[in-house]
Amino acid sequence: MNKTSNKLFSLTTLKVERNLPEIIVVTSGKGGVGKTFFSVNLAVTFSRFKKKILLIDADIHLGNVDLFLGLRTKYSIADVISGEKNLSDVIIKGPGGIDILPASSAVKDLLDEEDAALQRLHQAFSKFEHEYDKVVVDTGAGISKNVMSFVLGADKIFLVVTPDPASIADAYGMIKIILQNQEYAPILVMANMVKNEAEGESLYSKMNLMVQRFLNSQIYFGGYMLKDPLVADSIKMQKPLVISHPYSAPNNLIRMALRRIIGAQGKDSSQRKGFFNRVIENRNLSV
Ligand SMILES: Nc1ncnc2c1ncn2[C@@H]1O[C@H](COP(=O)(O)OP(=O)(O)O)[C@@H](O)[C@H]1O
Ligand SMILES: [Mg+2]
Repeated sequence: MNKTSNKLFSLTTLKVERNLPEIIVVTSGKGGVGKTFFSVNLAVTFSRFKKKILLIDADIHLGNVDLFLGLRTKYSIADVISGEKNLSDVIIKGPGGIDILPASSAVKDLLDEEDAALQRLHQAFSKFEHEYDKVVVDTGAGISKNVMSFVLGADKIFLVVTPDPASIADAYGMIKIILQNQEYAPILVMANMVKNEAEGESLYSKMNLMVQRFLNSQIYFGGYMLKDPLVADSIKMQKPLVISHPYSAPNNLIRMALRRIIGAQGKDSSQRKGFFNRVIENRNLSV
């Protein structure tokens, strides 16, 4: 390669790196706390700001973004890994113009796949990853290696917690693992299913105190969400709440959470790596 083509190559690489989307991973220690609800509604709300959004359903056991939205999926990431389909065949259009990469039970073994298969997925994704402004990832519950590989690939972590002591304990366990493995992605706590704002703030403050005292770090307030029957209504209607109930209190609270996510200081965007690249790297961590 001569000098000119070398320079051209590095400029192209730089352009692609700069354009990589911000990855927001929605997670929790415990299941059934509202991860899918927030993933869907945050993704659709982001798209309102003329952003191109990809929602990845990475809950490999109970993946149900498609059910939440009444969408039918034909293919999954597994078909890309096997080389039978392109990623563009797998991605489906969701409400508000978002793109959705559906989960599949066949993805269960995703992280046990051979390197070559995962590299194929990474390459397929990196071809058009830069087309998105943000990627929202809905994870499964728990702190398994699969879940943590996605969580540790985040630029920002949205941790959903409820006042249930089991939810708080599991969330704390997850924070501990996150902080042991990386320090740059801010963790925003969403206090879900609370009675009022005060309960939400106090839930966050208690957790932050524990993190400061025992883990010598800090977490951020991502907002609160009241326990509200409209949430279940929207799920029954198979529509995101921000579309089915646009003038409701929960919609306003989702918007406030979104502003907090945008306001959180993330890693310098020029240092980002491709998402599946990070997931593959995290597979080797001992979590
Ligand atoms: N703020 C809320 N108010 C009332 N019900 C809620 C709220 N958040 C979640 N839910 C209910 O909790 C259940 C689990 O939500 P989901 O988003 O599927 O959780 P996860 O993805 O964490 O398993 C759903 O049936 C949903 O209706
Ligand atoms: Mg879920």
